[in-house]
Amino acid sequence: MNDETTAPTDAEARLLVHRAGRTPVYAYGRAALRDAVARVRAASPPTAGLYYSLKANPHPGVVHALAPLVDGFDVCSLTEMETALNTGTPSGRVLFTGPAKSRTEAAAALAAGVAVTVESPRQAVLFAGAARELGVTGRGVIRLNMPYPARTPDAEPSPNQFGVAEEDLAEVVDVLRASPLSISGLQLFWGSQYGDPEVVLATRKAVTERAGACAERFGLSLDFVSIGGGIAMQWRDRDPAVDWDRLSGADTGPSAEIGRLPLVCEYGRSIAGPAGSLLTTVLDTKTVGDRRYVLVDAGMNDILLASRLLSGGDRGEFPVRVVGGADRPTVPHVHVTGPLCSQLDVLAEDIELPEVEPGDLLLFPGAGAYGPSFSPGGFLSRDKVREIVF
Ligand SMILES: Cc1ncc(COP(=O)(O)O)c(C=O)c1O
Repeated sequence: MNDETTAPTDAEARLLVHRAGRTPVYAYGRAALRDAVARVRAASPPTAGLYYSLKANPHPGVVHALAPLVDGFDVCSLTEMETALNTGTPSGRVLFTGPAKSRTEAAAALAAGVAVTVESPRQAVLFAGAARELGVTGRGVIRLNMPYPARTPDAEPSPNQFGVAEEDLAEVVDVLRASPLSISGLQLFWGSQYGDPEVVLATRKAVTERAGACAERFGLSLDFVSIGGGIAMQWRDRDPAVDWDRLSGADTGPSAEIGRLPLVCEYGRSIAGPAGSLLTTVLDTKTVGDRRYVLVDAGMNDILLASRLLSGGDRGEFPVRVVGGADRPTVPHVHVTGPLCSQLDVLAEDIELPEVEPGDLLLFPGAGAYGPSFSPGGFLSRDKVREIVF
């Protein structure tokens, strides 16, 4: 488990379930969100603003709790945009990202005064046309395409569809300059779930320098440059632990760009992840061969990331706690499975767990990011998992 994860105590967990009325329920802690923002801020370049990406957890209560703590929001849909604006955050601090925005989405963002990332020449033409029709100026943020860095020394950088290709950059700048849109920023998002602090630091420096070169080449005067985030979340025991001390103590020089450009970092998982827990009730137990099954009311429709679907048997395990179970004897070879008619609906595989019986509560800590919004909630038409903020 991520050392930074803050989970409710047993007594708090029981009360949270009563408050929610039922399980399964995600409980997100305001104090834990505050701690996470402070930790991530300390691990970012000292001058950088901090944007929270709603894709990690768009729950309105979470976004509302974060609004006074962060400098802005990254949104990817009209619903996310409204959630961000409904906190009272000024539209000038909201950025609408995504590689293929529709005309409707672009027009909505422009009407709201929200900046839009421009990710191709055709999108630039589309947004320019929308601004003209609406009779508004608008803020364009050019996303630069870049392969995501290799995760290990023997791996290759990963090509992707995001942002403007180097060879299209001059065209995009020309289209925007001839339009009502200003070029107010650059975005160089470079991936997620990087555990090696040296990769994070080196990439941060490289993208900042590239942004500086681009601004100089085109004579851009920028309100901000988003240099991504990339910091990993330790969901499972095989995920990399983050070396926060290394990131926090990092000498962000000698790049002259850091300090000269108005930087913004974008984070999702490292802010919301540690602050959330999933609580689920044991409905049944049974032994089949040498396996002990613990069947619970949360499934992969609620927490896809913990299920077998994403990475089969070699995935590592989410930590799981039995509420009130600290002093009970443990049982080996436990498989925690959900209520779905799918062999993939496994939330923990072959772990040691305190003895449980129906009615007991299990708590999965560090589950606050990419939970309900990243899970197939429609599968089997089951009730939506509850979510509360405490
Ligand atoms: C443009 C952009 N910003 C921010 C994020 C959030 O990333 P993370 O959850 O890794 O911090 C993502 C993730 O995909 C992204 O694509």
